[in-house]
Amino acid sequence: MAIEVHVELRTRDTINAVKRGDVIVIIDVLRCSSTIITALANGASKIITTPTVRKAKQMKQRNPEYILAGERKGLKPKGFEFGNSPSEITRRKIHGRSIILTTTDGTKAFEIAKKSARPVLVGGFLNAEAVGKKSWKIAYKNNCGISLIACGKRGKLSIEDFMCAGKILEMMPLDELTLSDSALTALVASEGAGENIIELVRSSEHGKYLKNIGSTKDVEFCLRINRYSNVPIFTNGRIRV
Ligand code: MLT
Repeated sequence: MAIEVHVELRTRDTINAVKRGDVIVIIDVLRCSSTIITALANGASKIITTPTVRKAKQMKQRNPEYILAGERKGLKPKGFEFGNSPSEITRRKIHGRSIILTTTDGTKAFEIAKKSARPVLVGGFLNAEAVGKKSWKIAYKNNCGISLIACGKRGKLSIEDFMCAGKILEMMPLDELTLSDSALTALVASEGAGENIIELVRSSEHGKYLKNIGSTKDVEFCLRINRYSNVPIFTNGRIRV
């Protein structure tokens, strides 16, 4: 039986995926997903996402050995050790450590996905092939659908997340899928863009914003397609590989 695939276009629509009982892939290319994928690829032991700065600080008080990381308006909040910056992550800084992460949009998707009965994966350009293949395998085994959550920014579509959903779809066995209109549009857009996909993301609203605040390195880093083969999985409020 063909696997149904949907692409949701806003963080809050993660709830539709939960209700359908789909395998969920959370995509926030700039930069939440990319930070998570990179941190775990560099040996972080786990990542705990939390929706507010206040809750993140409370968690840090209870667990002083954890690293406090995140952003508001793209910048590192006061008192945090790390921003939401994949390009600043090195194995030396984070190997074996647990990270508390709070970001504007991405971490809110995880809050909603806590209710999911199916596995919740983290995807980006950095692990597009690995997450595409893994989500398909899980859905096939469980006889369920797949929802790619293109988180967007503040309730609006983001081209980087939408294009990444299309790129992840390209990695799946397409003749065994039934695509919703949003999934088909993402696929056609990604295939049509070809190598220009990188340039499109560079010129995205959030890509330009990040460059303006001095995070050009992050934008370039997040665009490295298939740099990693790890697929982070979110269970019981923790993300691990
Ligand atoms: C978010 O979750 O909203 C982001 O990843 C924002 C950012 O880091 O610029």
